[in-house]
Amino acid sequence: MKIAIDGPAGAGKSTIAKIVSKTLGYIYVDTGAMFRAIGYQCINNNVSPDDIKAIEDNAKQADVTIKYINDIQRVFLNGIDVTDHLREEAVGNMASAVAVIPAVRESLLDLQRKIASENNVVMDGRDIGTCVLPDAELKIYLTASSKVRAKRRFDELKEKGESPDIDVIEKDIIERDRKDMTRDIAPLKQAEDAILIDSSYMTIDEVADKIISLIPS
Ligand code: DC
Repeated sequence: MKIAIDGPAGAGKSTIAKIVSKTLGYIYVDTGAMFRAIGYQCINNNVSPDDIKAIEDNAKQADVTIKYINDIQRVFLNGIDVTDHLREEAVGNMASAVAVIPAVRESLLDLQRKIASENNVVMDGRDIGTCVLPDAELKIYLTASSKVRAKRRFDELKEKGESPDIDVIEKDIIERDRKDMTRDIAPLKQAEDAILIDSSYMTIDEVADKIISLIPS
């Protein structure tokens, strides 16, 4: 069984995918974390997001692998577990720049399909329903307004003791959507057979229950 969840940044895909996969006993595959690992390598090497050649060179040297430890996905970059460094905003923005490069997408595509061929999965990303798993049994396109997504991110950062600016967060979210939706290769879009869920006014549990109720028997 393959469940694909796509949608823009901050729509709640990973939170929901974790709940759904736990409820069903499936593996949760966070494909964004794979792109983030390559973005992280680029940041560590001071690569500019506009320098395609440098991103390509870095990507060639980035060997991304995945292990499941206590059912939690851990991402390894050249043999080192980098999972705990991947959630920062800067890494997400660099991941979006890295994700336009065909060679990067191809190398990660093999990894993503291999995991799905060996396990029951809930996989989230931008192109899972359209490119990675076109034969997924259930495809969800999860979205929410940019205002709601910015507010959620704002609350999350405040909780961590940071003092974020909600307008800057929303601007970053809109820019990342633009990049992800307009790139030539595997852009973010709703697959024709995906079910649209707008989570703007839904709770996390409502969204998770809705997805579970849609699983074909
Ligand atoms: O879901 P996320 O925020 O962790 O993803 C980070 C970036 O990685 C996202 O802005 C675009 C890219 N990405 C992608 O192009 N394709 C995917 N399947 C997942 C993520």
